[in-house]
Amino acid sequence: TVVEDVPGDYELGGHPDFMAKEIAEQPEAAQRVLRGRLDERLGTARLDGLRLTARELRGIRRVKFLGCGSAYYAGQVGAGLVEELARVPADAEPAAEFRYRNPVVDPDCLYIAVSQSGETADTLATVEELQRKGGRVAGAVNVVGSAIARECDSGVFLHAGPEISVASTKAFTNMTLAFALLALTLGRVRDLSLGEGRRIARALAELPERIGQVLAEEDRIASLAGRFADAQHVFYLGRVRGWPVAREGAQKLKEISYVHAEAYQSSELKHGPLALVDAAMPSVVLIPDDELAVKNLGTIEQIRARGGPVVAVTTTGLAVPGAEEVVRVPTAGPELDPVLLTIPLQLLAYHTARKLGRDIDKPRNLAKSVTVE
Ligand code: AGP
Repeated sequence: TVVEDVPGDYELGGHPDFMAKEIAEQPEAAQRVLRGRLDERLGTARLDGLRLTARELRGIRRVKFLGCGSAYYAGQVGAGLVEELARVPADAEPAAEFRYRNPVVDPDCLYIAVSQSGETADTLATVEELQRKGGRVAGAVNVVGSAIARECDSGVFLHAGPEISVASTKAFTNMTLAFALLALTLGRVRDLSLGEGRRIARALAELPERIGQVLAEEDRIASLAGRFADAQHVFYLGRVRGWPVAREGAQKLKEISYVHAEAYQSSELKHGPLALVDAAMPSVVLIPDDELAVKNLGTIEQIRARGGPVVAVTTTGLAVPGAEEVVRVPTAGPELDPVLLTIPLQLLAYHTARKLGRDIDKPRNLAKSVTVE
């Protein structure tokens, strides 16, 4: 089967739709973004496309990721990684917000324009605005030869391969991996030790296999979709490493199933949103394998005490009392947990949308790339 208006070689290869195909392709796609860029011996990465010397990398005082939608959420994962591994202040902002608020452009900041298509109008305009003001901007783009890739004179290609489904999956994953490579590179020209660098490099090298292990759990994850297909509203809750994951998970569910999903920092729950929790409102709680795991378990108790059903998605081996369902994901070390925790949420959204009979690859009201404002 071939989708209209794409070249004939973009075939489904036995999958029911492109989203299923693109989810399944993630182990290979992840291998491609890492290939030739990891140095396990020196515990670092090489991103030649950035065109920055070690001295210039050291001179970067701040990193800012700019993109729209899922590209922005991937940037948020990237910001967490850069702060954690390199101890360089980093954040992410929606490109459309940034460009319209007359931003202060910092010459010592590395701006990263994040885009699968490389054609998103707001992200492209952001790049142009940054260049006008003398900012240093690099692209993190999937489509070679796209407008953003051409406009940025340096960057990191994502090598996810063609992504046809409107809902981004493999490109999102490759964005987060590219940012892990960037964080490792920046970390190793600063204070990240050789030993720690090697640990991260090894974990990154093993990541494609770990993604495959998560995908092997598809049937189990699909069996949970009924809970979400019957719901009017779903919460996605996470904190720190789990927070951008929760946002991306909620985005995927909304986008393709049309079930209303909201992401919150679990730490904010008591300050308002907890009022919405009842037996009809399921929550997906993300529990990375880190020092906040016990606090995340406490969040589950708070929800259960109000009668809310909980699906926990975790890389820890901890017992999760109170959760009706637990999806266990192999860990790649706490820093990289956001990459792996996203995969089951893609499957959850996908199977919910299938159950509801949605047009998965072409959800209503949405386009694959938003080339006008
Ligand atoms: C992702 O599932 C969405 N379709 C959407 O948020 C997308 O990520 C956004 O429009 C940005 O697109 P880009 O990566 O092509 O710039």
